[in-house]
Amino acid sequence: MLRSESSDGCCCCQLLCSLLKIVITAGFALFFWWLIFRPRLPRASIHQIQLSDFNLTANNSTLRFNLTVAVALRNPNKRVSLYYDALDAALFYGGKQIQSAPLPVFYQPHKNTAELEGKFRGSAAGVAEAFRAERAEGTFNFEVRVESSLRMKLWFVKIGHFHPKFDCKVGISGGVPVTNGTWNCDR
Ligand SMILES: *[C@@H]1O[C@H](CO)[C@@H](O)[C@H](O)[C@H]1NC(C)=O
Ligand SMILES: *[C@@H]1O[C@H](CO)[C@@H](O)[C@H](O)[C@H]1NC(C)=O
Ligand SMILES: *[C@@H]1O[C@H](CO)[C@@H](O)[C@H](O)[C@H]1NC(C)=O
Ligand SMILES: *[C@@H]1O[C@H](CO)[C@@H](O)[C@H](O)[C@H]1NC(C)=O
Ligand SMILES: *[C@@H]1O[C@H](CO)[C@@H](O)[C@H](O)[C@H]1NC(C)=O
Repeated sequence: MLRSESSDGCCCCQLLCSLLKIVITAGFALFFWWLIFRPRLPRASIHQIQLSDFNLTANNSTLRFNLTVAVALRNPNKRVSLYYDALDAALFYGGKQIQSAPLPVFYQPHKNTAELEGKFRGSAAGVAEAFRAERAEGTFNFEVRVESSLRMKLWFVKIGHFHPKFDCKVGISGGVPVTNGTWNCDR
């Protein structure tokens, strides 16, 4: 059918036809490639919080903190491995970002879970009010945001970068140095 059209002698049509064929073939190849690998982004969860030295300083306006979170990153893919080229964790308290910390970058094979530690230590201004309110209630609520930049390896082809962000909300009781649990992060 395509041939009969191009035999009209219009070289422009012929060129257009072969271009169209190439595009359609490439589209199908890409589609099957995608079907075979079905790449999915990783998932994140937090399963331990260590909190110590969490208190106001002597002038009552600055909050001191020492918090370590154990973050698990799961690569759910059967045939796709991941290269994390950048990973950063930010700690939010009382609606404010109080610190950010880089996490180590790494290569993750398929069907693998990696454990990372985010360490936050220092002092923050402007959150004393939130701290006093939560101390009275006995529960401290934190938010940990992990930002990543990663490439996916499909056989020998690397694609990316992708930039999934993970938003993890954790609530723990005051005065407990180590809290285990499972807090799934939104992506
Ligand atoms: C901070 O917390 C970590 C883990 O909970 C602990 O090992 C470390 O000694 C603490 N540092 C200070 C200065 O309190
Ligand atoms: C926190 O600091 C206040 C004084 O600012 C002190 O009375 C209290 O004992 C401290 N709490 C802890 C758990 O260290
Ligand atoms: C800090 O608050 C405590 C009570 O929570 C109070 O006894 C103390 O005088 C306050 N210190 C300052 C510097 O305001
Ligand atoms: C409160 O004390 C901390 C150190 O303990 C200091 O960094 C901060 O500037 C002080 N804040 C005010 C408002 O004086
Ligand atoms: C929390 O988990 C750690 C292992 O990750 C374990 O050693 C510890 O006993 C657990 N603590 C509690 C209170 O369950």
